[in-house]
Amino acid sequence: MADHPLPPMVSGGLPVFGHALQFLRDPIPLIERGYRERGPVFSLQLAHRRAVVLIGPENNRFFFSETDKLLSIREGYPFFIKMFHERFYFFAEFEEYLEQRAIIMPRFQGQQMHQYVTTMTNETFALMERLGEKGTFDLIPTLGPLVMHIAAHAFLGHDFRSRLGGQFFSDFRLFSGGMEPVLPLWLPLPKLMRSQKAKRKLHKILGELIQERRRDPVDPPDFLQTLIATRFSDGRPIDDVLIINLILLLAWAGHETTAGHISWGLIDLLQHPAYLASVRDEQAEVLGDGRDLSMTDARQLQRIDWALKETERLHPVAFVLMRKAAETFTWQGFHIPQDAMVFVAPTVSHRMPEVFPDPDQYRPERFSPERDESRQPHSLIGFGGGVHRCAGVNFAYLEMKIVLSLLLQHYDFTLLDPDPPAVAGAKTKWPASPCRVQYRRRTDLPKKTRRPPSHAGEERLAEASAGRCPVAH
Ligand code: HEM
Repeated sequence: MADHPLPPMVSGGLPVFGHALQFLRDPIPLIERGYRERGPVFSLQLAHRRAVVLIGPENNRFFFSETDKLLSIREGYPFFIKMFHERFYFFAEFEEYLEQRAIIMPRFQGQQMHQYVTTMTNETFALMERLGEKGTFDLIPTLGPLVMHIAAHAFLGHDFRSRLGGQFFSDFRLFSGGMEPVLPLWLPLPKLMRSQKAKRKLHKILGELIQERRRDPVDPPDFLQTLIATRFSDGRPIDDVLIINLILLLAWAGHETTAGHISWGLIDLLQHPAYLASVRDEQAEVLGDGRDLSMTDARQLQRIDWALKETERLHPVAFVLMRKAAETFTWQGFHIPQDAMVFVAPTVSHRMPEVFPDPDQYRPERFSPERDESRQPHSLIGFGGGVHRCAGVNFAYLEMKIVLSLLLQHYDFTLLDPDPPAVAGAKTKWPASPCRVQYRRRTDLPKKTRRPPSHAGEERLAEASAGRCPVAH
């Protein structure tokens, strides 16, 4: 093994820091340059640590299939232990992880998905009610809170959403600030300390809610009630701390990614009016007089599905996925030393012309069943792959489809910041603010009069989220 060379190093590293400062400032151009200079397996020097970057479907396959074997996910995301718990999810032993994953997966399958359609629809109507007839809004500060409202409503119940929404969201923003992928976690960074304090508050709020639900179960059971009633396969009940962590995991893993993807999805459509017109034509065909979307309708809206996939390809919000080499091994003729960081980079993999012809062009039809350019396994990896593939992918796609379909059905939009860049830094890749759209209610559809049920405490919630993004950055 020692005979094999290390993956070639990208040029331009500085003494001591290597490529760390460039990575922290803007990692994507650095990874693109690495691929151009050195090919599909190359190294970056991130201060004292080597990071090996793997590009392309074959390397992605290796990365996902070796996770939890040669490649450790838990050491790829060390901040996770501080945000959650040392025995939680992929920090637990593998068998325990599978047990915990098995608790949440059924909530994102089959019949369960139908009940989210109403929540997603009602929350989008509530947003449209606040938007009114015309105006402008900034995408992330508006769609971010919408995604959070949907998550709180779907996972914690209508009651919680209206009573405690505002307080929960502001604490959740601080809690999310604990996601620090690069800097050492022992640094006394204010955002890390705020995250820990918020975590304690969230545990208290959610702990009280669970106790309340144990005393006084809701009928029919919603997501939280079902979780409380669930047993492990050997009959053991699930303890409160695990329930709290699962809820926080779903809200955390789902909200900032979805807010970014949905915003890019709208931007992409507005930049391509001919395709947008075809999305609207299909919508008119499926929904006729503008009735609310059902699950069956959502399945029939294919053109918006292809558009969201094309957005996943062009703007993957999780721009890099991380692991750590658990032992020394050889891959593609290179020596990968134990403890090296190992990355895959959807942003660069998704633009390989040999996989996706004309990769810089927006062409949603490439995902139509006749063409399906993502048929090669692990070519489209915006939601990961293998055993750790996104648990919420069906939920996210349903949510994005419903929100975008309703907004496009009811409004005409113009992009005021026509070509927004992604946020700088090693962060979830949203469009950078300001990224504003002008909107006007469409007059060519029957005006809908339906209102979502009014929520006690709605004002407090709207206040807590108005004009601000719910995600700490
Ligand atoms: C556009 C939206 C989303 C994107 C782009 C996204 C992306 C991802 C990616 C790339 C991973 C794999 C990470 C890795 O392998 O290192 C992942 C995992 C995960 N996601 Fe998502 N996600 C989204 C929405 C959601 C939603 C809505 C939920 C929950 C409601 C969710 C829950 C999870 C969970 C629990 C995992 C960990 C899976 C495991 O390790 O078992 N995600 N997501």
